Parts: sequence; structure tokens; C-alpha cells
Amino acid sequence: MAEHQAVADPGDSVFVRACRGQPVPYTPVWFMRQAGRSLPEYRSVRAGIPMLESCTRPDLVTEITLQPVRRYGVDAAILFSDIMVPLKAVGVDLDIKPGVGPVVAQPIREMADLAPLRPLEPGDVPYITEAVGELVRALRGTPLIGFAGGPFTLASYLVEGGPSRDHATTKALMYGAPDVWHALLSRLARISAAFLRVQVEAGASAVQLFDSWAGALAPADYERFVLPYSRAVLEEVGELGVPRIHFGVGTGELLGLMAEAGAEVVGVDWRVPLDAAITRVRGRAVQGNLDPALVLAPWEAVAERVRAILAMGRHAPGHVFNLGHGVLPQTDPDVLARLVDFVHAESARQRTE
Ligand code: CP3
Repeated sequence: MAEHQAVADPGDSVFVRACRGQPVPYTPVWFMRQAGRSLPEYRSVRAGIPMLESCTRPDLVTEITLQPVRRYGVDAAILFSDIMVPLKAVGVDLDIKPGVGPVVAQPIREMADLAPLRPLEPGDVPYITEAVGELVRALRGTPLIGFAGGPFTLASYLVEGGPSRDHATTKALMYGAPDVWHALLSRLARISAAFLRVQVEAGASAVQLFDSWAGALAPADYERFVLPYSRAVLEEVGELGVPRIHFGVGTGELLGLMAEAGAEVVGVDWRVPLDAAITRVRGRAVQGNLDPALVLAPWEAVAERVRAILAMGRHAPGHVFNLGHGVLPQTDPDVLARLVDFVHAESARQRTE
């Protein structure tokens, strides 16, 4: 007979409550890219298995997602996958090359190139449904974050054919062939929304839309060429009732517009002081914003900045502590473990002041 043990409801966890702007006893914390190359146990289970293949194996996805939860005691897990997984699943010919990133065989340049971007069906990603279901059971109350790539970031990989510093070819298409651009982004928005839906329907407690490279755009261009599609993705998942986080890097000038896209939480990189960000997102909760390089410095420098970020975060309706972007590969896992304990203790202490 099944054992009956009280399992905490991830929908009422400190992380989800903070996303919703509800009172919490301490500030929750997780790290973007918390699973991955900074963990020896990750390198060991991934040895010899290509990135995209590992994303299709529920046993590996489950194990890798759980690794940072075990090691750090973070307040949320994030599904081990990649923003390119749903594009691969609908049939785009792409790979993720070690040390390089996503590489697309036939970059998109004209209307005819959009043909492979058909709608994503849940049956295209059975391994996601299976892994999320397994994880929700294994996490026993710790919330699982599902995610998808934002429309500009996905478009950039597809148009450039790989990683790009300036996104010049992408912008040239955006300005020069707006009909192709709008058709491309509308297909990507549908795919991302469908990918998020699969994860939430399988049990994810929150979602994050990673439009990592949107900060490359001027606000007027972001508003015209990207925002309608991010809003469409977020609106579609809004009806599923889980909190939504909207994140990009270098988005200081875009934070107000990103907040308008509709997520409950706006991610903030380290370039914007958190108090300024809180003003810009007008009543939304925030996530961030420690410089990922700071954890390579002596502990006292880390602690000083964390205290300041937590103090600023108290002026937001909700604050989820995170790095301003992903964990750097050379990060010492022991420092992240210490950071989680410190965020919990220091944020609880600040609440008693
Ligand atoms: O955050 C997590 O721990 C969950 C897993 C996750 C991965 N990719 C695993 C991954 C998440 C949320 C992503 C999202 C992602 N993928 C983004 C948005 C987040 C961000 O960092 O801005 C982007 C832009 C990508 C595209 C991508 N995939 C890049 C740029 C790279 C790194 C290339 C490299 O090797 O430097 C990848 C590969 C990738 N995705 C790795 C991991 C753990 C490394 C692959 C490996 O270990 O071989």
C-alpha cells in the first residue's frame, strides 16, 4: 500500500508565494543554470552524451535537475532542458555544440525558410511530460520551474545560424523584411507557449520565459517587433494559473516594457540597481540580481552585496533572489551552497529589524 506522508504543496511554497507578491518568512533563492558544468556530478553523468540527447532522456533530465537541489537546498528546481529543444522537436535541423552553443543548419532568411516551424504538439516532447511528472514526485513539494526561449532570442539563433554578439543579421531581417520577421515571431510564440503548456500540464509550478538577448534592442524596436509576441506567449500560459517570470540580459531600458508583457515577475541582470528596477517594473515582483562573477570574489564582498540586494528587494511586492544571469562554469559549488544559506538567514534577519 502506498505510504501516506504529508507532502508540501509546491503551489504554496515560499518561491511561488514570493512570485505572487504574498508574504514570505525569508527570500527564496535559485540560480539560473544551477545545473551544469560547475557541478562535478553533472560532468560525470553527462560524460559522452551529447547535450540534446541528454535532454530527451527522462532519467538524465530528472537526475540533473535534482543535482543542484540536493547540493544547494535552493527553493526551486529548474527543468534540465534547453530553449532549442522544442525547435528540434518540431523538426528544425540544429545541434548544441560544446563550448559554442546552438548551431542551426539552415538559417532563416526568407518566408520559405519558415516551413519547418510547424506548431508543437505535446506528442512531440513525450520525454518532457515524463521527466516533469517524475520530478514533481521526486521533489516532494519543492517547486519545479518550466521554461521556454523568448521570441527574440530564439529568432536570433535561427536567423544567425548560431550564437552572435551583435545580432546584426537578425536585426537586418527585422528592419528589412518585417513580413518575414512577424511571421517568424508569431510561429515561435506559438511553439514557446505550447512548450510551456506541456510543462505546466505535467506539473511545473512556475514558468520562465528566457528572452536572454532582447537587451540588444532599442525600446521602440522591442515594443514593435518583440513585445506583442512575448505578451502572446505569457497570455496563453496565464490561463494555467502558475506564476510567470520574464527575463533578459542588458534590459535596463526595457524593464518597463517587459513588465507590460504580463508576467508576475521580471528578471533583472546585475547592471541595474535593484531599487531602480523595482521602480521601472511598476508593481511587479522582481528576480535577481547578483553579478554572477561576484561569487568568484572573497566571501565578505559577496555577503556585502547580498545584504544590499536583499534590503532593496524588500521594496518590491515580491523578490526572488538569483544571479543576474547564469552560473559561470568556474563557480565553486561550495560558495553557492553558502550563498543559499546566507540569503535565507540574512533575509529572515532583515525582516525582524
Ligand atoms: O538553468 C538551468 O540549470 C536549466 C537548464 C538550461 C540550459 N539552457 C541547459 C544548458 C536552461 C534554462 C537553458 C536556457 C538557455 N539555453 C538559454 C537562456 C538562458 C541564458 O543563459 O541566457 C540560452 C540562451 C540557451 C542556448 C544555449 N544552450 C547556450 C548559449 C548554451 C551554452 C553553450 C556553451 O557551451 O557555452 C547552451 C548549452 C547548454 N544549455 C548547456 C546547459 C547545461 C551546456 C551544455 C553542456 O554542458 O555541454
